[in-house]
Amino acid sequence: MKSRTGLVETVGRRVRLIRAGTVHKGLCPFHQEKSPSFTVDERRGTFHCFGCGAHGNAIDFVMRTENLGFREVVERLAGEAGMALPEETPASRARDDRRGTLQAALQAAADWFREQLAGRAGSAAREYLAGRGLDAAATARFGIGFAPSGRTLLKEALAPRFPEEVLVEAGLLGRPEGGGASYDRFRGRVMFPIHDARGRIAGFGGRVLGDGEPKYLNSPETELFQKGRLLYGFDRASAAARKSGEVVAVEGYMDVIALHLAGFENAVAPLGTAMTEQQIGLLWRLAPEPILCFDGDAAGQRAAGRAAERALPMLKPGHSLRFALLPPGEDPDSLLRQRGAGAMREILAAARPLRDTLLAAEAAGQSFDTPERRAGLRQRLRALAGQIEDRDTQAEYQAEFARICDEAFGRPRPREGGRPWTPTRPAPGRRFEGPRRPGARGFAPAGLPEQAPPPVPDLWGVHESRLIHLALRDGARLAEIAEELGGMSFRNPDLEALRCDLVDALGLERLDSGTIERHLTDLGHGPTLDRLRGSEARRGWACVGSETTSQEALLEWRFFQVVWQLEEIEREIAQAERNFTGVEPDDSSSRLVRLAAQRNELLRHRGDLDLERDALRQTATGNL
Ligand code: UTP
Ligand code: MN
Repeated sequence: MKSRTGLVETVGRRVRLIRAGTVHKGLCPFHQEKSPSFTVDERRGTFHCFGCGAHGNAIDFVMRTENLGFREVVERLAGEAGMALPEETPASRARDDRRGTLQAALQAAADWFREQLAGRAGSAAREYLAGRGLDAAATARFGIGFAPSGRTLLKEALAPRFPEEVLVEAGLLGRPEGGGASYDRFRGRVMFPIHDARGRIAGFGGRVLGDGEPKYLNSPETELFQKGRLLYGFDRASAAARKSGEVVAVEGYMDVIALHLAGFENAVAPLGTAMTEQQIGLLWRLAPEPILCFDGDAAGQRAAGRAAERALPMLKPGHSLRFALLPPGEDPDSLLRQRGAGAMREILAAARPLRDTLLAAEAAGQSFDTPERRAGLRQRLRALAGQIEDRDTQAEYQAEFARICDEAFGRPRPREGGRPWTPTRPAPGRRFEGPRRPGARGFAPAGLPEQAPPPVPDLWGVHESRLIHLALRDGARLAEIAEELGGMSFRNPDLEALRCDLVDALGLERLDSGTIERHLTDLGHGPTLDRLRGSEARRGWACVGSETTSQEALLEWRFFQVVWQLEEIEREIAQAERNFTGVEPDDSSSRLVRLAAQRNELLRHRGDLDLERDALRQTATGNL
């Protein structure tokens, strides 16, 4: 839709634009300036201001310049382009309206905070930021602002445009517990706007100037601001991270900013809490092995161990985490200031795999000088590996931990004496990690010939291609699809590569299917897309109406998702049956039972979905 509305035309009604190469330029409508740093890229459908960092698409532009809600803007732009909007349920419509209004209120607050920082009220804050190495260009780049210390300054500034209720719901105003008038939540704080994965404002973190408690105050949990689902800097970091295939998660907002300014533009941070599953999922959208960065002191090492353990159930082929420890007492911000980007680069290059972090947490510094202690370690490691849900990954971990223990303690003869065990820094002459061979990844038991990895079969998975096809068609308008596609892992390597880039494209901006397909073609997926279209056409699927309602599209998606899961289960069952040798009857038989139960569950689910699809089709034809 966006490409058809014509961004240059939309923006051109407010800003005098002049063509400059492939983009248009003009004076930024969002801040005062004398020379144009505001650009419009018609092809990408985005505007960007190099002065104040304002960024977005046609919808964002109209929302901000005219203070309209998301839905109103979409309707207006669609009207201008002579298009009908996709049908929506009253509930989803109300939700979009409310979210759009909250976003507009947050954006208005961010603009106001920025003005305050630039104005008279902001001099102490400017000084504080300068003392931390942030000049006007840097604060503009990150949209940093200042909330002056009055009780109702923001409330009064926004009152003409937003009902008090909206400002409370957006987390900008608080209400005293015993009742009474609402007041500004953020007072006397440097304000860091926090955005969601698509770059839409979701909330704020506010830091006191100097000392004071709490040091950082965040927006409360709101419909838009869910701390466990957001990463600070994600929207800015995604391009650099995908390009380099690396993403770095640090602990603080100031660390992210310092890293970006030092050229590490792939840095993000959680919002003051331990990394959640959703956040790990977000990181995996950018890179297969994100680096988590911790203070190297004892508390930081414990935190790293906990993060590694929390990630265990989610590990899957090719997807892990790495851990980098900073010198004790340092954070990336202080390290960069004192020792420069080179030191930071070294620390990131020395990041250790998740396996080592787990081993360190379980074993470092302890001695294993009795059979009970050694058996205890083996048992703990087995239990840890047992938490990994992915079958292949769990098997690899079990085998590797067993091997590492065998090599450390000897097998079958227990080793004598009991030196402390330090897996990350092996004592001279002792190896805890197995022999590393040139070209070999990971470990192989000593003395055994290296096993070649099984060849990847070139299956042109019917269900995989169907899912990709549906995601291409509907992913741009249905966030659920993008979300769920992100959690899958396909067998066909071409479709898997396409899936990864498609998930990124869906997560980045509000693009339409055509733009996404062009983008994927640019990324080299042309042949796969052609093949996909061919196979869809052969099955007569390409002509499935593109005017499906959201409800139909989602059902269709869910149905094929279940069909795909069933296929995966069947494969696993076949594999488990082949492996069922009776050597470890308990293990493999319980696995078979579990798989069979999962299969039954999926079959039932598929039946339900089928009924729902039928019902929907009947109402649709009944309405004609
Ligand atoms: P740190 O205390 O490590 O602060 O908190 P920092 O990022 O180094 O801050 P500066 O350098 O003193 O400004 C790390 C992160 O934890 C959250 C924030 O997200 C912060 O960036 N935090 C910290 C809070 O949410 N509340 C607090 O009171 C403190
Ligand atoms: Mn700091």
